[in-house]
Amino acid sequence: MLKKLTLDNFKNFQHAELELGAFTVLIGANAAGKSNIREAFRFLHGIGRNYTFAEIIGEKWVDGGVRVWQGIRGGIREICYLDKNVFGISAYSDTHKTKESGDRPLIYGILVTLDNNKKRIIDTQEAIQSIPISKADWQGYKNRANTQNSGAGLQQSGLFKRIRKKHESEKATVFKQMFNSIRFFDFVPDAMRIPSVTGQVVLGDRGENLSSVLYAICEDSQQKKILLSWVEELTPMDAVDFEFPSDQVGRILMTIVERNGQRISAYSMSDGTLRFLAILAAFLGPKRARFYFLEEIENGIHPTRLHLLTQFIENQVAQGDIQVVATTHSPLLLNYLKPKTLENASLLYRLEDQPDAHIKRIMDIPNARQLVKKQSVMRLYESGWFENSMFFLDDDVEDVA
Ligand SMILES: Nc1ncnc2c1ncn2[C@@H]1O[C@H](COP(=O)(O)OP(=O)(O)OP(=O)(O)O)[C@@H](O)[C@H]1O
Ligand SMILES: [Mg+2]
Repeated sequence: MLKKLTLDNFKNFQHAELELGAFTVLIGANAAGKSNIREAFRFLHGIGRNYTFAEIIGEKWVDGGVRVWQGIRGGIREICYLDKNVFGISAYSDTHKTKESGDRPLIYGILVTLDNNKKRIIDTQEAIQSIPISKADWQGYKNRANTQNSGAGLQQSGLFKRIRKKHESEKATVFKQMFNSIRFFDFVPDAMRIPSVTGQVVLGDRGENLSSVLYAICEDSQQKKILLSWVEELTPMDAVDFEFPSDQVGRILMTIVERNGQRISAYSMSDGTLRFLAILAAFLGPKRARFYFLEEIENGIHPTRLHLLTQFIENQVAQGDIQVVATTHSPLLLNYLKPKTLENASLLYRLEDQPDAHIKRIMDIPNARQLVKKQSVMRLYESGWFENSMFFLDDDVEDVA
């Protein structure tokens, strides 16, 4: 599990730390940096996919001219904070037993340097260790030659072992697998309405292959039961079964059978229903990832169903094998979070006249804990109390200074 992400001069963060729980909810105004956090995870995911730096930041094309990866928004010119040309990302994993000092987190960090014109990467340095990585530690794996078109040292885990004995290659493998198993979803209902081929069990980032993923879930009677019970809870449909009629070329299309015998195919299902089904497919499908990043999860979901969505995700992460980070603009959604989940909800904010963004766990904002007991967290959020508190806090610090 990832416990923390730290960013240095990445996008609109000068220095920021994001504590991660099993289910981490990110809130904050437009342009606060929520999607930039997603970009940081995408950078790590690109490493996990064995892409070169040019591909991760730019684009990845495969044979046949198919683009399989859209780079980091803003590309190489806008990846570093303002006029900086070095950025760093570190990821903390679970505690790890060390001989010398007992349980410590294991940290992977990468520091990327661009040329002054921000046209290419000229140097990358990586390290894996048990204490926070400071400047002096950037000697784990140095990558100089043709950096732009090479991949991270982490991708060739043996290199870590060779360069520094302490960096055993298994540790590199732990991170590489963790980064590889991150999924990013931005569901597009029309993509979910397209019939797909059985055996295609990986849900696309926009929800592609929804029909064949649901088909695979239904092949296991136990999983099908779970799926149907959530469909019944989450959607207004009285679903009793799924059917998967095939077209001329064998592609299948998910169809829900209602108790009264009515059949509704994905073609005519509502956008919100499809979004729910895609979330269910992402978590219950055979290719379950270890880490999910969901943008604006309340999108298209009726307020009266929101609590079921948070309940489903909390129920899934309670199984201990997955982690979810979700962004939201919904104050109501905060109200439905279990106290344990609320502990890991973070506010992303910018202070007046300052271009960089900051991150603060909402329960760590002075007085938040007491106030949340008296009035709902929803009210606090929609009244702007979280942001205002950070603003006044900053003001106080300046006054004292
Ligand atoms: N290299 C950079 N240096 C400084 N600021 C940057 C850089 N790249 C992006 N930004 C800032 O980040 C902001 C976008 O942040 P982001 O897309 O993460 O916001 P968000 O919280 O997801 O907002 P929304 O809720 O509207 O989706 C832009 O307004 C831009 O000012
Ligand atoms: Mg955004």
